[in-house]
This record gives sequence, structure tokens and C-alpha cells, in this order.
Amino acid sequence: MCHSKRLAKVAMPMLILLPLLLLCYGVGNIHCSTVHDNSGDLKALLDFRQGIPSDPYGAMSNWTMNSHFCRWNGITCTLTRRQWRVLSLALPDKNLAGKISSSLCNLTFLVYLDLSSNNFVSPLPDALTNCSNLNYLDLSSNLLVGTIPPKLGLLSHLNFLDLRSNHFEGSIPGELGQLVNLRSLLLGENSLSGEIPHAIFNNLSSLRYLYLYSNSLGKALPSNIGELFPNLIELALENNMFEGPIPASLGNSRLRVIDLSHNNFTGKIPTSFGKLSNLTFLSLQYNHLVARDDQDWKFLNTLKNCRYLNTLSLNNNKLQGSIPQSVGNLSTSLQYLFLGGNSLSGQVPQSIGKLSGLTRLGLGENYLSGTIEGWIENLKNLQSIRLQSNNFTGPIPSSISNLTQLEYLYLYENNFTGLIPSSISNLTQLEYLYLYENKFEGPLPVSLGNLSHLIKLDLSYNNLHGPVPSNFGNLQQLILLDLSDNNLQGGITLAT
Ligand SMILES: *[C@@H]1O[C@H](CO)[C@@H](O)[C@H](O)[C@H]1NC(C)=O
Ligand SMILES: *[C@@H]1O[C@H](CO)[C@@H](O)[C@H](O)[C@H]1NC(C)=O
Ligand SMILES: *[C@@H]1O[C@H](CO)[C@@H](O)[C@H](O)[C@H]1NC(C)=O
Ligand SMILES: *[C@@H]1O[C@H](CO)[C@@H](O)[C@H](O)[C@H]1NC(C)=O
Ligand SMILES: *[C@@H]1O[C@H](CO)[C@@H](O)[C@H](O)[C@H]1NC(C)=O
Ligand SMILES: *[C@@H]1O[C@H](CO)[C@@H](O)[C@H](O)[C@H]1NC(C)=O
Ligand SMILES: *[C@@H]1O[C@H](CO)[C@@H](O)[C@H](O)[C@H]1NC(C)=O
Ligand SMILES: *[C@@H]1O[C@H](CO)[C@@H](O)[C@H](O)[C@H]1NC(C)=O
Ligand SMILES: *[C@@H]1O[C@H](CO)[C@@H](O)[C@H](O)[C@H]1NC(C)=O
Ligand SMILES: *[C@@H]1O[C@H](CO)[C@@H](O)[C@H](O)[C@H]1NC(C)=O
Ligand SMILES: *[C@@H]1O[C@H](CO)[C@@H](O)[C@H](O)[C@H]1NC(C)=O
Ligand SMILES: *[C@@H]1O[C@H](CO)[C@@H](O)[C@H](O)[C@H]1NC(C)=O
Repeated sequence: MCHSKRLAKVAMPMLILLPLLLLCYGVGNIHCSTVHDNSGDLKALLDFRQGIPSDPYGAMSNWTMNSHFCRWNGITCTLTRRQWRVLSLALPDKNLAGKISSSLCNLTFLVYLDLSSNNFVSPLPDALTNCSNLNYLDLSSNLLVGTIPPKLGLLSHLNFLDLRSNHFEGSIPGELGQLVNLRSLLLGENSLSGEIPHAIFNNLSSLRYLYLYSNSLGKALPSNIGELFPNLIELALENNMFEGPIPASLGNSRLRVIDLSHNNFTGKIPTSFGKLSNLTFLSLQYNHLVARDDQDWKFLNTLKNCRYLNTLSLNNNKLQGSIPQSVGNLSTSLQYLFLGGNSLSGQVPQSIGKLSGLTRLGLGENYLSGTIEGWIENLKNLQSIRLQSNNFTGPIPSSISNLTQLEYLYLYENNFTGLIPSSISNLTQLEYLYLYENKFEGPLPVSLGNLSHLIKLDLSYNNLHGPVPSNFGNLQQLILLDLSDNNLQGGITLAT
């Protein structure tokens, strides 16, 4: 969901390269005549270029014999034994199409290779393993096919490996467990299947970023995963087929981002997440996690220690009972709280109103009851609130007008009663107002016609009566208007 922007690129290799770059150009200007070209590197680069018939942006247009290859776009060199050697080849996001030449690794000094976000096709050449000094390899967002070559395990200096968003299939080779310096292993959005090899768990204790999301990987995670990966900062396993319990040992790592959503995890939510003092993102949505009694709900209480928590997403699990009072002790930096699609019952605790940082709250599709007054008006930063398909009762409080950022108000399929308050016109950002299938009554407030940003307005299946306000014709953005199954009268004059 949030990965394309949540890159785990390690900045360090670049920091190392920059001084070298300055150094080699400096030296080059002074000693040009005594420096020789490495003809092997030149040949390898020309061969690489040969494999790329399509370069729509002209990214390689200055790869000509008019200038030294170290000055070609995307190339960085180092001067070694009076020879210029290619240290880095970086041509990301250039729409290049073609194949990665199997001679590429004749560039024996190459430490940094970034060909991400292009249209390279074909399997990865085995010859890539000849780039034995490589520590940064990013081929993400291409059209690469076939299996991940086990020989990649020979690139023993690798600390960043990004093969996301390609068409790789088969299993993750256990040989990757030989990459003991690896800090980022990013294989998300491929067609990988099978289990995560033991060698990866047992050997890669330096791992900080593990992104395997959107594959078909499965089976249970080892219960001691947190001890095996004590340095882990981001764990993204969403959209796979993982099952079994969520290991409590994850609380022993340094995790900031945990995404285990859309899997088949079962059991309780561990209380140990509360030990992750830097946790910002926790998504466990769409699993089979249970909470039946106070003991099971203790995890929520412990999450109060995560002072930077921004997102807590537990929707579509099997959580039961009332939302605990302690929800109000969560960080005020919490922006996204999603508990929809569970079996929650009882009233929403007023303490939830303390979560002043909330911008999106989802409690829909539960069995929640009671009124929304007393807490909703305190959540002044809300942009979206989804309370649909519950058993809420009572009116929309007129203090709803305090939620001036609100864009989505979903209250449909409940037992709300009373008038639609005229103060609703103060919600000037409102775009989606879904109040259908409730027991709202009385006339519509004329002010409704002032909500000029409304895109969808559905008030059907209520007990509304009286005239349709003549100014409804001012709602120029509206693409859906449903007033059916009420007792409303009159017509709408469209503004011109
Ligand atoms: C790369 O190196 C191999 C083995 O040394 C050699 O046979 C091949 O010709 C080289 N390729 C290029 C394009 O220089
Ligand atoms: C080649 O293009 C790159 C990027 O535009 C530029 O930085 C570099 O100076 C160019 N090299 C030469 C020799 O023109
Ligand atoms: C890899 O390097 C070795 C030693 O230079 C060479 O013999 C071999 O041909 C290279 N392999 C490929 C596929 O280029
Ligand atoms: C684990 O790493 C060591 C080097 O530290 C290596 O010798 C060994 O082959 C690796 N084990 C596996 C299963 O990859
Ligand atoms: C979860 O398990 C069920 C049955 O065991 C299976 O049908 C379903 O595809 C699995 N879902 C995922 C996301 O793995
Ligand atoms: C939290 O982040 C701080 C600052 O980056 C760091 O010093 C600390 O070790 C981190 N703690 C954990 C448990 O990750
Ligand atoms: C947590 O919330 C409960 C109920 O709102 C409150 O009584 C308790 O003092 C809070 N605890 C902490 C540590 O903030
Ligand atoms: C609304 O309340 C009535 C009883 O007052 C109940 O029968 C009905 O199921 C409730 N509707 C919802 C959506 O909970
Ligand atoms: C909804 O709430 C009303 C009033 O509290 C109650 O009578 C009714 O049984 C509830 N309906 C459901 C489906 O929970
Ligand atoms: C609405 O907001 C105003 C100004 O921030 C505040 O004074 C008032 O108490 C709020 N009303 C409610 C019911 O929270
Ligand atoms: C609507 O907003 C205006 C100004 O922003 C404020 O004066 C007025 O009291 C608000 N009306 C209600 C009903 O909250
Ligand atoms: C609607 O907006 C107009 C100005 O755009 C204002 O004069 C009028 O008072 C508003 N009506 C209501 C009911 O808020």
C-alpha cells in the first residue's frame, strides 16, 4: 500500500562515492597525460549500451567516443593504478528498454549499480555474480523474469539488494543467506512462492529492511525472528500467505514499520509491540487475529509506549468486545486508526476523543452502539470518519461543525435519529456525505446546499420530510444524489 514511497535506500554508498568522484576528477585534470584508459571497462560499457535499443530520453546520448567514459551520464569512476575504473553505474528512471549485458561485470571495480525503474527484460544474467565488489544493487521496477539466481549469494559485499516490482517467480534462494552484510533485502511485488529460507533467518542478522510484500510466500514465521533480526527497522510482509501466530519476539527488534496485513495470521496480538519505542506504523488488517477478553486486549494498553505511532490498522480481524478505555492513551501523533470489520460491541469510549491527531477513523462494520456525542467533536483534525454499519443511535451533534477538515462522513446503516443539524454547513470541505438507512427525520437544513464541495450525497431510507432546499442546484460537484425512500417534496433547479 504505502511502499512505493517508503523506500529503504541506503544513502551511505553515495556518501562514499562523492569524495572519490571529486578526487578522481581533480587528479584527472592534473595528470591526464599519464593516465590510461581501461579498455576492458570501455568495451563492457559499449556492450552494455548495445543491449539497450531504446533510450527515449536520450539518457545515454553522450555515451560517445567524443568524451571519456568516466564523463558519460550515469558513470562514476575511480583512479586505480593509473587507470580509470568504473565504480558506479546509475541510470534509474530513464525508460531504458533492453537487456542487461552479461559482460556488465567485466566492470570489475563496480560497487554501485542502479538500473531501477526502467524496462529491462529477460532473466538476470548469472554473470552478475562476477561483479564481486558490488555492495549496492537496485534493479527494482523493471520487467525482469525467471528465478532469482542462487549465484547472487556470491556477491558477498552486498548490503543493499532491491529486486522489487519485477516478474520473478519460484522460491527465494537459500544462497542469499550467504549475504551476511545485507541490510536491505527488498523482493516485494514479484511472484515468489514457498517459504523464506532458514538460511536467511539464521545468517542475516544485520538486516534492517525486509520487504517481501505482494508475493505468494507462506508458512509460519519463526518464533524467535526478533532475536534473529535484532536490527530490523522495517518488516513488510503484507499480501502473502503467511499463517500461524505473530511472533512476540518482534518486540525485541528496533522495528518502526510493521506491515503483516492481508495474510492468514492467527492468534492474539502480542503485547510486546509496546516495547518498540520508535514504532510508527502497525498494520495487521485482514488476518484472523482474535481478542476475546481483557487479557487479549492488553496489547492496546501497551501501545501507549509507542509515542511516535502514526498508523494502527486492525480492521477485518476477529476482535470482539468493547474498545478499551485505554485507546485514549495512544499517542497524540496517531493519525490513522482503523478497527472496522471486526465484531466490536458496546459504546465507543469517550477517551477516544483525546486522540487529537486523528485524521482518519474507521470503526465501520461492527456492532457498536450508543451515541457519538462527547467524543466526535473533539477530533478536530478528522478528514474521514467511517462509522457505517453499526448500531449507533441518537443525533448527529451540532458540534460536528468543529470538524472543519472533514471530507468523508459515513454514517449509513445505523440507527441515528433526529434532525440533520444545520451546523453541518460549516463542514466546508465535505465531499462524501452518506447518511442512508438511518432514522433521520424532519426537514433538510437549507444550509446543506452550501456544501459546495459535495461529490456524493446519499440520504435515502430515512424519515426526512418537507421541501428539497431550492439551493441544491448550487452543488456543482455532485455526481450522486439519492434522496429516495423519504417524504421529501419539490424539485431541484439546476444552476447554470
Ligand atoms: C568480458 O570478459 C570476458 C572474459 O574475460 C570476455 O570473454 C568478453 O569478451 C568480455 N566482454 C566484453 C564486452 O568486453
Ligand atoms: C553527459 O551527460 C551528463 C548528464 O546530463 C552530464 O552530467 C555530463 O557532464 C555529460 N558529459 C559530457 C562529456 O558531456
Ligand atoms: C567471470 O569472470 C571470470 C574471471 O575473469 C571469467 O573467466 C568468466 O568468463 C566471467 N564470466 C562471465 C559470465 O563473464
Ligand atoms: C552463513 O554465513 C557464513 C559466513 O558468515 C557462511 O559461511 C555460510 O555458508 C552461511 N550459511 C548459509 C546457510 O548460507
Ligand atoms: C488463508 O487460508 C485459507 C484457507 O486455509 C485460504 O483459502 C486463503 O487463500 C488463505 N488466504 C491467504 C491470504 O493466504
Ligand atoms: C529509537 O530511535 C532513536 C533515535 O533514532 C535511537 O537512538 C534508539 O535506539 C531507537 N530505539 C529503538 C528501540 O529502536
Ligand atoms: C490510560 O487510560 C485510562 C482510561 O482512560 C486511564 O485511567 C489511565 O490513567 C491511563 N493510563 C496512562 C498510563 O495514561
Ligand atoms: C435499529 O434498532 C432496532 C430496534 O430499535 C433494531 O431492530 C435494528 O436492528 C437496529 N438497526 C441496526 C442497523 O442495528
Ligand atoms: C440496536 O440498539 C437498540 C437500542 O439500543 C437495541 O434495541 C437493538 O437491539 C440493537 N440492535 C442490534 C442489532 O444490536
Ligand atoms: C468546538 O471548537 C471550539 C473552538 O475550538 C471550542 O471552543 C468548542 O468547545 C468546541 N466544541 C465542542 C463541543 O467541542
Ligand atoms: C460556523 O462557523 C462560523 C465561523 O467559522 C461560526 O461563527 C459559527 O458559530 C459556526 N456555526 C456553528 C453552528 O458551529
Ligand atoms: C449559504 O452561503 C451564503 C453565501 O454563500 C450565505 O449568505 C448563507 O447565509 C449561507 N446559508 C446558510 C444556511 O449557511
